[in-house]
Amino acid sequence: MQTVKVSIDRTFAIGETDPRLFGAFVEHLGRCVYGGLYEPGHPTADAQGFRGDVLELVRELAPTIMRYPGGNFVSGYDWEDGVGPVDQRPRRLDLAWMSKETNAFGTNEFIDWCRAAGIEPMLAVNLGTRDGDAARRLVEYCNFPGDTELSDLRRAHGWPEPHGVKFWCLGNEMDGPWQMETKTAEEYGRKATEAAKMMKWVDPSIELAACGSSGRTMPTFGTWEDTVLEHTFDHVEFISLHTYLNDYAGDTEAFLASPDLMDSFIDEVVALVDAVAARRRSAKRIMLSFDEWNVWYRTRRRSEGRTKLGWPVAPEILEEIYNMKDALAFGGACISLLNHADRVRCACLAQLVNAIAPIMTETGGPAWRQTIFHPFAHFSKFGRGRVLRAEVASPTYSATYHDPRGTADLAFPLPEVPYVKLAAVHDDAGRTVTLFVLNRHLDQPMPIDIDIRGFGNLELKEALELRDDDLSAINTKEAPDRVRPGALAGVRAEGGRVLATLAPASWNVIRLATAG
Ligand code: AHR
Repeated sequence: MQTVKVSIDRTFAIGETDPRLFGAFVEHLGRCVYGGLYEPGHPTADAQGFRGDVLELVRELAPTIMRYPGGNFVSGYDWEDGVGPVDQRPRRLDLAWMSKETNAFGTNEFIDWCRAAGIEPMLAVNLGTRDGDAARRLVEYCNFPGDTELSDLRRAHGWPEPHGVKFWCLGNEMDGPWQMETKTAEEYGRKATEAAKMMKWVDPSIELAACGSSGRTMPTFGTWEDTVLEHTFDHVEFISLHTYLNDYAGDTEAFLASPDLMDSFIDEVVALVDAVAARRRSAKRIMLSFDEWNVWYRTRRRSEGRTKLGWPVAPEILEEIYNMKDALAFGGACISLLNHADRVRCACLAQLVNAIAPIMTETGGPAWRQTIFHPFAHFSKFGRGRVLRAEVASPTYSATYHDPRGTADLAFPLPEVPYVKLAAVHDDAGRTVTLFVLNRHLDQPMPIDIDIRGFGNLELKEALELRDDDLSAINTKEAPDRVRPGALAGVRAEGGRVLATLAPASWNVIRLATAG
């Protein structure tokens, strides 16, 4: 196999990563909250019912910001149900996931959990069944210091200090027919603008994300962004985008190529939002919040256990078991996000525990890492800094990726997929350059020759690889470490050159120490 040549220069940067690029997502969905991060009576639970074993894994995973409480759930959520004395909170039907919500865990508990985990909270407001008034009341409840009915209510509930939540989502996937009270772009744009105005009048320091398209395959993609921003442009800092990669077709090469469509999606959304700015002769740049991304297909459709009959509390739904192949596609998505650090200023892995999650738990039992845990932990721990522009000359392959839209199957031909996908991040303070490298070739090792200019002599600090001869290998309660990173052998750093051979179908992290 021909050697992959990579060229990187210290002076050519894409941008600085925002700490919020490494976020995740907690929704009232299945066992994400109940039996996931919150399980009073669990042997490791603290006085508030937060599972200590989950908190420990979350700290290792290192997400920086956490979106809550949905997702589809938020479009029918009355936030008032989740505050105040727990024994007086109502039990409700949740129409998003056809389950029963006890409301034992709500906004204040979430804030406390974030503080315990050292994570910034991000709240979404209900712009489905509720409106701007409910949203501005929630901002007042959370962020206003005191001496008003709502802020005093928070104090009476036991939280004397304001929560200071900075990042708010104006609803969730409002373009989707599966959403409670879906909107047209006009309807949503108007509603979001009015909500945004009032929320910022209560607390001018907050930042807002408008809903963009819930997927690149949505029939309204493009016109949705345009219309929504025509309304909200002056009131928001972010627009959202969501992607779930799939392997419905059982075509591994196409699946591993699919993160490249995230690159296209990001470029397209940037073009769309900048066109709105151009029409207004505005220098303002709307940033992207990729606030749901992951691999998800085994448990996505109703027939695949998306919901359970009988309105259960915290049902075992969306408990996708990730294999080695999923971890590779997932790593490709991490690289796509890093390589757009200039415009994607926030991103949330959907989700955190049990439901399409990097962390699994057994109720009353242990917690363990799924395969996708590892690339995310690398991405978050080593991906912070200046992302450098990398020219990658790699052999390519062609693939056709399939993405469903409702019952239709859309085909996306990808004629030239480079076998090697790469991102390079310079952490000046840590004196490190980290290379994230995915080898998508399924059966050939890939020699790689990386020329990194402007740092002088580079020394190898650490080299890791995630691979398994069996791409269907998974981690389970019984074998929680079947798939885990090991050392990548044979990496040589010579001056400003790095030489390595990447195993077939592997995720690799090469960390280099820069001279003083
Ligand atoms: O993350 C699971 C679901 O996917 C979310 O609730 C929704 O926003 C998206 O469709």
